[in-house]
This record gives sequence, structure tokens and C-alpha cells, in this order.
Amino acid sequence: MDIPWWRDAVVYEIYVRSFADASGDGVGDLTGVRRRLPYLRELGVDAIWLTPFYPSPMADGGYDVADYRGVDPLFGTLDDFESLVTDAHEHGLRVLVDIVPNHSSAEHPWFRAALRGEGRDRYIFRDTTNNWQSTFGGSAWTQVPDGQYYLHLFAPGQPDFNWRNPEVHAEFLDILRFWLDRGVDGFRIDVAMGLYKAEGLPDVSDQSFMSDSPVWGRPEVHGVYRDWRRLLDTYPGERMAVGEVWTDSSEDLARYVRPDELQQSFNFAWLQAPWSPTAFKQVIDDTLATVPFATWVLSNHDVVRHRTRYDADDPGTGLARARAALLTMLALPGSAYLYQGEELGLPEVTDLPDEARQDPVFFQSGGALPGRDGCRVPIPWTVDAPSHGFSPGGVEPWLPQPATFAELSVEKQEGDAESTLEFYRRALACRRDLVKRIPYTLEWLESPEGALFFSRGSLTCAVNCGLGPVRLPEHDEVLLSSGPLRRDLLPPDTAVWLRRDS
Ligand code: NOJ
Repeated sequence: MDIPWWRDAVVYEIYVRSFADASGDGVGDLTGVRRRLPYLRELGVDAIWLTPFYPSPMADGGYDVADYRGVDPLFGTLDDFESLVTDAHEHGLRVLVDIVPNHSSAEHPWFRAALRGEGRDRYIFRDTTNNWQSTFGGSAWTQVPDGQYYLHLFAPGQPDFNWRNPEVHAEFLDILRFWLDRGVDGFRIDVAMGLYKAEGLPDVSDQSFMSDSPVWGRPEVHGVYRDWRRLLDTYPGERMAVGEVWTDSSEDLARYVRPDELQQSFNFAWLQAPWSPTAFKQVIDDTLATVPFATWVLSNHDVVRHRTRYDADDPGTGLARARAALLTMLALPGSAYLYQGEELGLPEVTDLPDEARQDPVFFQSGGALPGRDGCRVPIPWTVDAPSHGFSPGGVEPWLPQPATFAELSVEKQEGDAESTLEFYRRALACRRDLVKRIPYTLEWLESPEGALFFSRGSLTCAVNCGLGPVRLPEHDEVLLSSGPLRRDLLPPDTAVWLRRDS
């Protein structure tokens, strides 16, 4: 079988609002992304995933889509998008776009019509509510002036579609065609385990992502992805889809990754695992045993950056662990998803002033939760403030960058062999060369306490999560390490790639 491009791909998530601003309004845009394509090529990723850039009132950073076939003026024009796709392809980068099928914006023409009483069956309107909560806090129901309520599993500005209405199916197939015709290589599907809700909308005692939930992962959703897969397969060039699927088991996750459904699903178990060899091993074993095409992810625009997560457990270790976790992840069979800024070792920005915050999580929790703005702070490209090269001239970015971003900027790290950026570049270049030669399977090697050793053909990866140094496994050459080695010892919070000729 020919290996599809996405099987081992490294995909780089671009949170468009925060990547690069070309227009000078303090918000990132598509032309900003286009100008930075050489940076991404040099970084060594295979594809980019663009978060939503569609017309939107931005009640949830663009995950509230008012027009699925356009570009918000904040981010550019459809021509800008087409130029970006053309240039990305010329740079050898594939392009995935985000598709948001669980809900639209309250400003979508269908919802505006529904408020006027037309076509309410495209959404979920009821005379009475149930006890479901919005993921962002508060009730999942909002009342409209005539007394009915509509369901929104996220912000009130994000009404949930009624996928029991065939019109919704036809509309989304058409939206997919629209972007496929513009050359996109695939889709990241937002809340892919949402869409259908249990008939009768029963009350729940627990709204977490678990098997048999009335809220998430209803079996009917698989029919949608079978239809989408059929459509993808009519296009040339291995177009694909990756689902944002939150589940509590790898078996549930695997239900989305089937020969006639999605090619991939995000595997959040890796991101949720603590810094522990047993936890890592269990996630790897579960995933490889159940999911035919694995993915790995440490950070994205919804979670605390992994450098800061690791630091919270053991202050001072965050960056070393983040680098070691990355090297371990890149050695695993499957595809890896990176989040912009992790290659700079950016931490979560935890001290944003309240008045700068924009995430609905902050507002819907009445300020009790900080929300996700801390991982969405614009990228520092250069040393100099005010925007560290994010925006042209003296424009302030939409979220303030902390002074520490100067030291973490691309300009500062480029050419410094010790920097996290140069480490990512070396790791991605080495991986690109290796994946062609090593098997998709993984073999565990005997590991000392606190450490995890495994091999894939001639590649051996060792990560030390323990408190003291461990002896390196047998090898012929050290290919790369996430931090300094001490002769043949692997220090704590460090990972290494070794070549071993059998
Ligand atoms: C998941 C997205 O990644 C997140 O940013 C968004 O708030 C929710 N889905 C709702 O669309």
C-alpha cells in the first residue's frame, strides 16, 4: 500500500488571529501567514492547519461562523486565501482548514431567519429546557423573545445545528466542496463528537465526554463522516479530515478512524498524560492497539501550553520536559500536531489583565476561570516591542505580549544552537529523514526505573522522567537529544534519539 501523506505528517496549527499581522490592525491575518511560509518550510513541517478565518462576530474567536464560504475582513479576502493556498503548495506545505459543523454563529442567516420564526428546525429550539450546561459555563439554553429556548453547547452566540434535519447535511457537503474546489488538502473538524444529541434531550447527571453520553458521541454522527469521506475520496490528492474528538477511551476514539470515515482523530490522551513513564507507556500502548492511524498532540489553542503544564507539577522543569516530550512524541508511529509558538518554548501567559481578555470562558464563568487567552498571545518574531514584529510599525497586538517574549522571539533564537527553535528544526529534519526508513510499529525495550526506552527499527528513543540520571540504551550513534547528555548518561527531564544498527 502506498503510504498516504498524512500518516506520518507533522501538522502545524496556526491560530490565525495570533500568528502574524500584515494589515497592521493588531490581529493576525492570511497575508501574515503567507509571508511567513518560508519560516514554516524551514521549520520542517508538512502541513498547516488554519483556525477559522470565516466571517464571524468573534463571540468565540471565529468558532462562531456567520458565513461558511467567506473570509472575515479582519483576516483578508477570498483572494488572499487562494494566494495563501497556492504559495503554501509551492512551499511544499499542505493546507487544512477548520470546519465548524456543531454550531453556527447567532449571526448566521439561518439563525437570523430562525429568530424570525423561519426554518427553526435547522437548530434545536424547545419550549422547555433540560439541565445541560454550556461547556463555557452556565445553562446551555437561551430564551428568545417569543418564549422558546435554543440549545448552545458553547456560547449563546453559537446555536447548535439540528443534524436530524437533512438540510444541514446538504449544506455542509456543499461547504466542504466549496473549500475542496479551492484546493484545500483537508479539514480539521471542530467538536467532531458533537452534532447529534440523544432523542428527547434527557437530563444528564454527568456531562463529561464518556461512552453513552446523551450529549456527545452519538452513534448517528458516524453517518455524517461516512458521507464526508465519500466526498473527500472523489477528489484527487488524498484529501483528508481529522476530528477534534474528546473521548474517555481510545476505543471510542477509534470509532471515528475507519477506512470509510475520518483518516485521523486528535489523540488528547497524550496531552492529558502527566510527566510519568507509566502514564506515557499506557497512552502509547492503548493508542497503538486501538487506533489504526495515530496522532499525537501536546498543545493547542484550547489548553494551557505544555511548558507551563509541566512546570506547574515541578517548577523549573517545564522547558526541559516540553522539549523531551516533543522528542518522544516525534519518535512515535503516526502523525504529530504542533501548536504555533511551542517551537519557541512559549509559556502560557498567566498575568493578562482582565480588560484584555476575550475568551468567552472568562466571561461565562464570571471571571472565575482565566480562559484560553493565555495560550493565544501573538507570536514574538523580533526582539523589539511593542509587538515583537507581530504587527507592522508601532501597532499594539490584540493581546499584550509579556516582556519575556523578547528573549523567546524568533530573531533571538535563530542561529543559537541551544535554542528551542533550532532544536525543533533539527528534530523535524531528522524525523523527516528517519520516517522513510523505520517501521510504523514500536517495540518496548527494557527500561530502568523512571525511564522509557523504545525502538522503531534502527531508531531508539529514550526519555527520562525520573529523578536521577540513567544509562543510555545500547547504540551506535547519538542522533539528537533534547538537552545536554552527560557522557553515556541521560539526565532527568531529557530525551534522546539513538541509532542502533542491528
Ligand atoms: C473547539 C475549539 O478548538 C474551541 O476553540 C472552540 O471554543 C470550541 N470547539 C467551540 O467551537
